Amino acid sequence: MCGIFGCLCEGAPKVLLEGLKRLEYRGYDSVGIALINGDELFVEKNKGKIDEFILGLDEARLKGEIGVGHTRWATHGAPSKENAHPHLDCSKRIAVVHNGVLENFLQIKEELLKKGHIFSSRTDSEVIPHLVEEYLNEGLTLKEALVKSMERVKGSAAIAMISTVEPERIYCYRRESPLIVGISERGVFCASDIPAIMPYTRRVMVVPDDRLVVLERGSIQIEDLRGVMYKTEFTEVTWDLELAEKGGYPHFMIKEIFEQPRAIRDTLKIPTIFLDKAARLLTGRIYLTGSGTSYHACLSTSYTASDLVGIEMRPMISSEFADALLSLESSTVIAVSQSGETADTLNAVKHAKSKGAKILGITNTLGSSITTLSDAYICTQSGPEIGVAATKTFLTQLVALDLLLLRLGLISGRLSESAHRSITHELEALPGMVEQILRRADKIRDLALKYSKKENAFFLGRGANVATALEGALKLKEISYIHAEGYPAGESKHGPISLIEPNFLCVFIAPRDRTRERIIGNIMEMKARGAEVFSVITEGDDELKEISDEYFEVPRANEILYPIICTVPLQLLAYYAATFRGFDPDRPRNLAKSVTVL
Ligand code: M6R
Repeated sequence: MCGIFGCLCEGAPKVLLEGLKRLEYRGYDSVGIALINGDELFVEKNKGKIDEFILGLDEARLKGEIGVGHTRWATHGAPSKENAHPHLDCSKRIAVVHNGVLENFLQIKEELLKKGHIFSSRTDSEVIPHLVEEYLNEGLTLKEALVKSMERVKGSAAIAMISTVEPERIYCYRRESPLIVGISERGVFCASDIPAIMPYTRRVMVVPDDRLVVLERGSIQIEDLRGVMYKTEFTEVTWDLELAEKGGYPHFMIKEIFEQPRAIRDTLKIPTIFLDKAARLLTGRIYLTGSGTSYHACLSTSYTASDLVGIEMRPMISSEFADALLSLESSTVIAVSQSGETADTLNAVKHAKSKGAKILGITNTLGSSITTLSDAYICTQSGPEIGVAATKTFLTQLVALDLLLLRLGLISGRLSESAHRSITHELEALPGMVEQILRRADKIRDLALKYSKKENAFFLGRGANVATALEGALKLKEISYIHAEGYPAGESKHGPISLIEPNFLCVFIAPRDRTRERIIGNIMEMKARGAEVFSVITEGDDELKEISDEYFEVPRANEILYPIICTVPLQLLAYYAATFRGFDPDRPRNLAKSVTVL
């Protein structure tokens, strides 16, 4: 995933760099900008993070009122100055930034090479400016050349293009990859997401798929590739920019962990009308699919669905979905994705649709591809999540899915009115419980100091807590680089236990639920082999305090809420361990906020 930004306004160089900084979470291995000043195209790009890039810029050369910029997460071609965007044509009149993956670029590149074009990068994206140049040389206008180029390339693309041929315009195009535009008295803007342009305007529009956009001073036009105009309907963003900024916290991740009570409160307010529409879609066989953390929400929910409403829902990792040869006719697929742009999940959705399944999307990103592909969708109310590690969006996915199950239970008659009322009441207590846990974050920080010196850890649980264990392990490994594995506790004795040696860290998810007695057995097995045991337990559980080397207490709750509240100390553990080890938790190596490649 990469971030693109474009602006036509006073002070464009500064706006461009600020916008790119807000998009850095989308990719941070290289960065670049292009500005038009008079009839000159100024381009600067490099490998590395944006702060280093800014330090190396010659301010005197940053001029002009129109520009585009890019933050990169490498797919085709290693992170390097040459592979950084913007990419230019041979005559250096056209600058293009691109987010997406072009499937047929090799074929196009070969054709263009034969025609004498000279390429300077190994990226797929560089074919775009050369293709536009080729069509310009054939006598087409810049717009016609772009349209023809977009018809030629296959794959996903959100692009922004400027050119000295028409120095007063930014041309954009969107296919699959996200693109939004915004307008205000200050100017016109385009970007990969809303927070990037929020300091300059709150009047935004999500560009529909397969549309060309022309940004000029004071106007934004949207049309399809045949030139048919599309009505521009701007909406006013009501949430606060603060949600997308660090607000005094050292990292986005810790800020987002501490935002969880608010995010849950807002998600609990999802109107019943949306939940009912979604619940009514759930007929036939039901599958849940997602990737990474979102898959863990699917796994957890599959247990809750059987428990709460007696309905079987099969969880599937999205990248495995198509290969599982599932019976999809007359089925429903619940696709869970924070970004709504994860390629594996979109692929699973497209496969399911082609086989006749209905799709219910659960996402945090309005206007994302998943919302356009779904028959109905529910938007979690986390607000933008910038840290690469998913935290608040995981908790709100679980809350939204619980709300959905409650409505499904009521509509299908599997849940009585009074059971519905009482569980709803418990859900409403969740923000307070999470607040209570966060007030004791210091205890986890102290433990993290000790555990940050470990090289390995097991996270073990049973039932829905297996999903919590997997999530705890994923969080720890992805940002602290400690090797961590999540496992069903009962399964650990069938092989993994052989890894246990004195002081091997075992984190047990051991709340007071139906799994507790058997988890105690698993703890004893690990302790007998010298493991160092840290347990997440229900407050006041003296027996578990006694047998664990360390413990963290969560409030007593209904069983279905434990996957939500037991996750919070594990998020904190991962965060503090990463910082003690000297790593930036917001920007783990090799990762990007959303993974848009298969
Ligand atoms: O945007 P999505 O929820 O579809 O993303 C799926 C995964 O890539 C994501 O959850 C990933 O595992 C997180 N970085 C984990 O913290």
